[in-house]
Amino acid sequence: MAYRWTNNLTRNDVTPERYFLNRRQVMAGAAAGIGLVGAGASAQAQDALEPNSWEDITEYNNFYEFGTDKSDPASYADALTIDPWSITIDGLVDRPGDYDFKDVMAEMTVEERIYRFRCVEAWSMVIPWNGFELADMLAMAGVQEQAKYVRFETLYRPDEMRGQRAGWIDWPYVEGLRLDEALHPLTIMATGIYDRPIPKQNGAPLRLVVPWKYGFKSIKSIVKITLTDEEPVNTWKALQASEYGFFANVNPEVDHPRWTQATERKIGGGLFSPRVPTLMFNGYEDEVASLYEGMDLRTHY
Ligand code: MTE
Repeated sequence: MAYRWTNNLTRNDVTPERYFLNRRQVMAGAAAGIGLVGAGASAQAQDALEPNSWEDITEYNNFYEFGTDKSDPASYADALTIDPWSITIDGLVDRPGDYDFKDVMAEMTVEERIYRFRCVEAWSMVIPWNGFELADMLAMAGVQEQAKYVRFETLYRPDEMRGQRAGWIDWPYVEGLRLDEALHPLTIMATGIYDRPIPKQNGAPLRLVVPWKYGFKSIKSIVKITLTDEEPVNTWKALQASEYGFFANVNPEVDHPRWTQATERKIGGGLFSPRVPTLMFNGYEDEVASLYEGMDLRTHY
């Protein structure tokens, strides 16, 4: 296990080189005036990886299992028991079973990833996650050839998760990815923030992070992962398919039916901070656009 948050490396030491390269490329692109949608976007790209504060990240949350207000998760998530914790991995895998979280951690390499995080509600943050690549965890279980999708499930425990006593969502919360999205090196299981174990309101002990997709894909407090050959029905699509799709790729050109997705409000910028342009695939276009070649992103929203 490589718990890099327990040693004294600086953020620069642990961020993989490719993300520094990407940042340099973005800045070079901004200087040359290419590849970006305008001066505002250039400015955003340049400061985009300046992380939000611990308070921003842990006190303004969506985690409906604890309530619908942004402050509910921080107020009520303490009731959740996260030790012991195991994750069932089943479906089209060679080694199905219940994997103890500690045993998984013993096999994984934890590193820091500073990612933009863009909610479908049009607010955004920059979060310094600690985590490991989902691909490494799936390799533990051995993905079979017929698998095409990965389905994720959150814990169902209404006695600890007070929001689950309300029936407006068909609990447990479910999300899904295409297998190639799940295996992409940007896709991580986050287990920490700012070199500290991930707080319960952010999805302890492990949650998905898919930085080029709207935040609702990044399912929290995962207890089950199923490899399947059918597209999983995700919670928000099940609730309102005309507004929330399976792909949920950040796309400034495809508006939500009730609001624009062309711009976003950066959390922590103060009440009067101007909205900034949203970037295609949340700024990860170079890395992920090829996954969707030939697809109509308006119908596959
Ligand atoms: N996962 C579960 N289980 N339940 C939720 O309500 N909310 C999603 C996502 N994952 C949610 C969830 C939404 S809408 C967003 S924007 C992000 O979590 C918020 O993550 P954060 O609170 O860590 O910023």
